[in-house]
Amino acid sequence: MQDEPTGAGLLSVSFTLNGAATTVTAPPFASVADTLRERLGQTGTKVGCEAGDCGACTIIVNGRQVCACLLPTARVADARIWTVEGDGPDGVTARLRTAFLARGAAQCGICTPGMLMAATDLMGRDARPSRAAIEEAIGGVLCRCTGYLKIIEAILDVAQGSGSPRAAVASAAIGSRLPRVDGWPKVAGTDVFAADAAPADALWMRIVRAPHAAARFCLGDLEAVRCATPGLSAILTHKDVPGENAFGIFPNLKDQPVLAPGVVRFRGEAVLALVGTRAALDRLSDAALPISWQEGPALSGLCAALAPGAPALHAQFPDNVLARGNLKSGDVDQVFQAAAVSAEGAFETAFVEHAYIEPEAGYAVPLGAGPDAIEIAASTQAPYMDREETARVLGIDPARVRIRPTACGGGFGGKLDVSVQPLLAVAAWVTKRAVRIVYSRTESMASTTKRHPAQIRARAAADAEGRLVGFRMQADFDTGAYASWGPTVANRVPVHGMGPYRVANVEILTRAVFTNRTPAGAFRGFGVPQAAIAHETLLDDLALRTGLDRWTIRYRNALARGDRTATGQCLAHSVGLRQCLEVLQPDWDAALARAAAHNQGTPRVRRGVGLASMWYGCGNTSLPNPSSMRITLARDGRLTFLNGAVDIGQGSSTVLLQIAATALGLPAQAFEMVVGDTALTADAGKTSASRQTFVSGNAARLAATALRSQILALANAGPDARLELAGSRLKIVDGDASRSVDLRSLPLLATPAGRGGEARSVDLPAAWAAAAPGDVVLEGIGTWDPPTTALDGNGQGIPYATYGFAAQMAEVEVDVCLGTTKVVAMVAAHDVGRIINPTLVEGQIHGGIAQGLGLALIEEFTPGRTENLHDYLIPTAGDMPSVKIYLIEEQEPAGPFGAKGVGEPALIATAPAILGAIRHATGVRATRVPVLPHRLWEALSEEGRA
Ligand code: FES
Ligand code: FES
Repeated sequence: MQDEPTGAGLLSVSFTLNGAATTVTAPPFASVADTLRERLGQTGTKVGCEAGDCGACTIIVNGRQVCACLLPTARVADARIWTVEGDGPDGVTARLRTAFLARGAAQCGICTPGMLMAATDLMGRDARPSRAAIEEAIGGVLCRCTGYLKIIEAILDVAQGSGSPRAAVASAAIGSRLPRVDGWPKVAGTDVFAADAAPADALWMRIVRAPHAAARFCLGDLEAVRCATPGLSAILTHKDVPGENAFGIFPNLKDQPVLAPGVVRFRGEAVLALVGTRAALDRLSDAALPISWQEGPALSGLCAALAPGAPALHAQFPDNVLARGNLKSGDVDQVFQAAAVSAEGAFETAFVEHAYIEPEAGYAVPLGAGPDAIEIAASTQAPYMDREETARVLGIDPARVRIRPTACGGGFGGKLDVSVQPLLAVAAWVTKRAVRIVYSRTESMASTTKRHPAQIRARAAADAEGRLVGFRMQADFDTGAYASWGPTVANRVPVHGMGPYRVANVEILTRAVFTNRTPAGAFRGFGVPQAAIAHETLLDDLALRTGLDRWTIRYRNALARGDRTATGQCLAHSVGLRQCLEVLQPDWDAALARAAAHNQGTPRVRRGVGLASMWYGCGNTSLPNPSSMRITLARDGRLTFLNGAVDIGQGSSTVLLQIAATALGLPAQAFEMVVGDTALTADAGKTSASRQTFVSGNAARLAATALRSQILALANAGPDARLELAGSRLKIVDGDASRSVDLRSLPLLATPAGRGGEARSVDLPAAWAAAAPGDVVLEGIGTWDPPTTALDGNGQGIPYATYGFAAQMAEVEVDVCLGTTKVVAMVAAHDVGRIINPTLVEGQIHGGIAQGLGLALIEEFTPGRTENLHDYLIPTAGDMPSVKIYLIEEQEPAGPFGAKGVGEPALIATAPAILGAIRHATGVRATRVPVLPHRLWEALSEEGRA
């Protein structure tokens, strides 16, 4: 650490760390988390909030779990400390590690050290804890990925001394529970997340952000401040941006400044970048900077932004409408007039924060004297998009930018946009020094994208038998101050807005609208979860009006193979919604009976059951989204999978390896993995839109198949030949015939480009040649882009190559006196095409349900008020219901081995199912989420039910 206090400012503290005597010199009031990470290099202990809210920093001090972010270093003198890097008292942490890995309890892994420590603490007090005791023990550690259930299972495995039944699974075969290939570093605390590493001489950066939602500002004498602040290297303004001071997702919508040029459009917008030693930045408060603000009127939401005469946030959008989407088929007006029954409603959803436990962080290193090029290590879901944005901001060719994704501590769409990357690039470029940054929790929540708040009006009509005949929706989405993924939301919702049902007459209009609020972007579903609340509520209405059971009306209308969607697309394959509904029908009937029995006598706590269906197109909407993969075989037998798809915790590295290993015919253990680095891998597209299994899975399959073909050709072997690789000897066994190839005897591949049919269509990074081992003798390259067509003016066409389908059922208990809702059970049936890895699919569904539960009942982000994990609540272990999963394999011929995506489908049906259950329990038709207790209580009171 640079510029640290000296003499009396530091304290020498001794303690036992993971069984070893340790002495460290640190400021006495520095947190133990900071001392462990920055002074002892023990970065296994994570920091997610620095406020005692997330539990990521949980360690054990003198036998009890504590938050290391709240504990001053001076307080641990002579203490016994255990962290994730140790095996724990009596080796219990080591046993938990193995169980976590085997159960799939670590997804992104950022919470895993804290979870392991909380569990270690519990087992030190109670060797045979109950499930309730486990929930309580880990209750202070937040996980945004897993839904906690596999974590609890893993702890139970150790508690019950059963070991893990799946620990021995090592097969990579399609359908096997191969433990995640990047899992061990996550459970060992050695995975390197964005805040865990930086060059030793890196400067630190802090961003000064707007305190107002709409304002102009003037800057005073910044140079005087810099000169008066020892250790401060630079105060950067928009004038320091070497290239274009703008970034954004779409080529024609680069509307967000890296540093605001005198005007800000949301609270939290970046204004200045302070670069210097950490101590200098700590000493310099924002209030000491010469910024004079002129606050203006802010457009605080959709109504204000759409009001006649509202000022325009951006001159090129005078009505504040960023983007419109539409779909029109048939004649909705006519069928509404003739329909037997209809239902309509107005629905409202809130901002939802991604709340990944890892705040944004990273570092940039300038290369060359100019500098000439730059490397950025950061947490991201889209390295190639980061590369483009960084290059534009610096005004250099993208080939001079290398993005090296770190382990990603959760994304959920929030790390599809750049955050730290352009700021780091500018700072490193200008100062010619390595620069690092770690966002605080508040900064992360105030400045990064959210789920779009929505206002939706919808109407559905059916015939007397409950068959949908018409559907209309008008949906407005608050996209905040800058475009981000607003156009994507506006275009995806029309396709999905009527739900996964056969309905011939549809009219859906959407708008993404600028306001002076935090930019809204991508968040698991791109607007579809909001729309699902509307269409599922209306389906329940129609069930009531037609006297049909809610299951029956869904089954009767469910899309099936051979049906046409409202965009005119014929669904020729893999439409498993009916199977999903069929498989959970016994649970539905049983739950209804349980609720009826429970509610006899009108108890205060009433039970209800809800059901919802969903569908979701895998990949971009009517846009190309290709992925390219490469597998090389070197003369010494090294088999390398160069995979540009960033694994954000969902398990794509494992799934793609299973696909590649199966297609090639060699064991997963034979592969070395290179993931995500833009200098080493080709563009696999962003990790979003439930596309990596489907799209990159196909690219991996093609790459492996191409390599296998070349190998078989060496022996003139048939397609069923078996391969064995031992060192440089490759054995090809074809029936009774066998040929052994010495890879050292094969000619080296001169260049990576232009070989093989697939390679010709691939934009190969120039760095491949340098990065690929110079001794490659065989390689396979695969590129795949899902077949879609553009949508016409009425939204007609083929927007997606395939869709995921699901039905979920919720059982809730509602205290009608308090308005509180407890989800006690979820049953989820998902058509995933083909299961590549059941553990990972289950993990996605658990995590999706947890986020859907938060959307329905808990989560509401308010700019300026809930910018921390104390005021913004997400589900904890104690909030999770039991979850029963049915996986339907309605194979998709276009998918790799028949597989489709499940990341977003896992979430979409959860909130409407919960809302349906609340209505069943109480009669309250909730149309605004989250259904906070006071809102439900008010609704109950209005209806005289409280
Ligand atoms: S970092 Fe300590 S509780 Fe969040
Ligand atoms: S695995 Fe828990 S936060 Fe990602």
